[in-house]
Amino acid sequence: MALRYLAKIALPCIVKADGLALGKGVFVCDRLAATESVVNDLLVKKSLGRAGQKIIIESFVGGPELSLHALCDGQNYVMLPAVRDYKTLNGKMTGGMGAFGPIPGISDSELTSYGERFVAPILKASSDNGAPFHGILFPGLKGFVANEKMLEANARWGDPETQVHMRRLKGSLLDSLVACIDGDIRTAPPEWDDQYAICGVIAAEGYPDAPVRGDVIEGLDEANAIDGVVVFHAGTRRQGQNIVTNGGRVLSVTVTADTLEAAHTKLYEAIAQINFRGMQFRRDIGKLTVR
Ligand code: GLY
Repeated sequence: MALRYLAKIALPCIVKADGLALGKGVFVCDRLAATESVVNDLLVKKSLGRAGQKIIIESFVGGPELSLHALCDGQNYVMLPAVRDYKTLNGKMTGGMGAFGPIPGISDSELTSYGERFVAPILKASSDNGAPFHGILFPGLKGFVANEKMLEANARWGDPETQVHMRRLKGSLLDSLVACIDGDIRTAPPEWDDQYAICGVIAAEGYPDAPVRGDVIEGLDEANAIDGVVVFHAGTRRQGQNIVTNGGRVLSVTVTADTLEAAHTKLYEAIAQINFRGMQFRRDIGKLTVR
């Protein structure tokens, strides 16, 4: 049935695994043969196991990505600054290879409008259904300004978007989180530094298909010694005196700076200090400021 449907629709299209696939269940397909092969992999070869037993076929939406986050107290919400994620690595979908924020050109009123269009309806529906939502809501958008489509809505923080938020956060998040649980989030909004933050992910050899583990990581102290740099660990573990790779997305290198250009330069100075066999990263994080 899926193949009959594919023969009738315009390409490119999107094939999605309906289950949880760590951000790797989305396939952009621009030729019929490739699309049929993705469907066959998911439904017949069960390449993603149960996550891909049911699939969704959607129209392709062009344009940049926009990650929204809203802290919600069941009735009210506060928007966090919009962040841009970079989803692909060498053409393949990943959990996210980097992010930056704030996004130049997105005004407070535009952020308010995004909230009204993409957050308020979800909050209202969950409340109307007797399950008011408390916590972090993360709608993922794609498309050109004023014509964005919501591709997904997550009840969790984005990764690597959160690294960007945490580097720009002033003070503690605790009061905001407590207000989400049993208060009014509008009385305890998080505050943000004016600086730009960028996160660049360094991934293991073989990511996203089959990441290699156990490679010794060098240069972490040197990278962390650069002013404004903090390296977060994701897929690492200790092995004797060494830190070694232990997952797909290995490190999140984060920087802050007064301008996006300066943050971009600093990010790649920090990444240049780090070395492990087969490491992969994108070289354009923070570059694409065009909306
Ligand atoms: N970076 C995308 C996500 O967390 O789903």
